[in-house]
Amino acid sequence: MNFEAANFETLNFETLAIHAGQEPDPVTGAVVPPIYQTSTYKQDGIGGTRGGYEYSRTANPTRTALETCLAALENGARAFAFASGMAAEDCLVRTLCRPGDRVLIPGDAYGGTYRLFDKVFKSWGIEYEPVLQTDLGAVARAAAAQRPRLIWAETPTNPLLSVVDIRALAEIARQHGALLVVDNTFASPYLQRPLDLGADFVVHSTTKYLGGHSDVIGGALVLKDERHAADLAFNQNATGAVPGPFDAWLTLRGVKTLAARMDRHCANAARVAQALADHPAVAAVLYPGLPGHPGHEVAKSQMRDFGGMVSFRLAAGEEKAVEVCGRTALFTLGESLGGVESLIEHPARMTHASTAGSPLEVPPDLIRLSVGIEDPDDLLADLYQALD
Ligand SMILES: Cc1ncc(COP(=O)(O)O)c(C=O)c1O
Repeated sequence: MNFEAANFETLNFETLAIHAGQEPDPVTGAVVPPIYQTSTYKQDGIGGTRGGYEYSRTANPTRTALETCLAALENGARAFAFASGMAAEDCLVRTLCRPGDRVLIPGDAYGGTYRLFDKVFKSWGIEYEPVLQTDLGAVARAAAAQRPRLIWAETPTNPLLSVVDIRALAEIARQHGALLVVDNTFASPYLQRPLDLGADFVVHSTTKYLGGHSDVIGGALVLKDERHAADLAFNQNATGAVPGPFDAWLTLRGVKTLAARMDRHCANAARVAQALADHPAVAAVLYPGLPGHPGHEVAKSQMRDFGGMVSFRLAAGEEKAVEVCGRTALFTLGESLGGVESLIEHPARMTHASTAGSPLEVPPDLIRLSVGIEDPDDLLADLYQALD
């Protein structure tokens, strides 16, 4: 691709995923951005950096390639990559909030996000309030009463798959002087672009669909505009939770196939969700693609498709749910999600154990599936043998 001639504004998602930030190496013509496995850079006289690179905590060309690509995919002004999703969240909150500030978090937030607010930020004077964000009236009332600095949203949520109306939340945030953050990990920018819907910031665990191959931990922040870019760049460097060049490279390599993988994740998940809905052992299926899901219409209005995550509740209760998690063969029992291989887990005892006894506790009979891109007939056969 001729990058001089290319106008990124006119390019479509699949093209940006493969080309944005990834121009052939100017020295060798390498088509894939090299892994710049270096901590430091020669200066041509003091301050004479080549392209601004001086030390890899501050900036590294492989990381720059990833950040440029992520900004393009989310249609944001800037992106910052981190060593994990939690590091990205930590940097964002510590950049935007001060002691005494308040944050509204989802009533069914990802367990790690809840733990960060409850166990870390609270002791530094940042208060949080969990509010079920599918109840927009409750969010508006909490925002009016608390004047939060941030409204933190996740959609679809982990692991209950509730869908919140990003446009409506953005309007509430605007009315009450708050900034809207959307954790877009479950949807990925291919399915949903929160900044286009009015959010100020997007957060990712790039460990999941963006990386896509369960071989790297990473996180990212994407900003709608440049307003907080200098402060975030300062804190990214000052606190230093950056990904190494190889991790940035692996993530970028995953991103190239995001669109193709997501199409297959969505198609497989839709089949799995329908099969579970028809199964007598299953009490409820939580999947935004099912017409009976309470967030189905909102999901249709803000997502390209419904994603690869499916949760379901077993009629026979917790012990049976634990048993089923141990009986699948293709669905590997494990934490995390968004990789090409299918995973199964029991949120109450695994990913969301930190919410036990809190208002965010998840149902004990719940099973969460990350539906991979294997043959769907094989996946269904595996689930049937585990359930029957
Ligand atoms: C929705 C969501 N946000 C954030 C995170 C944290 O990301 P990481 O594990 O990369 O730190 C996760 C991890 O599971 C997640 O599912």
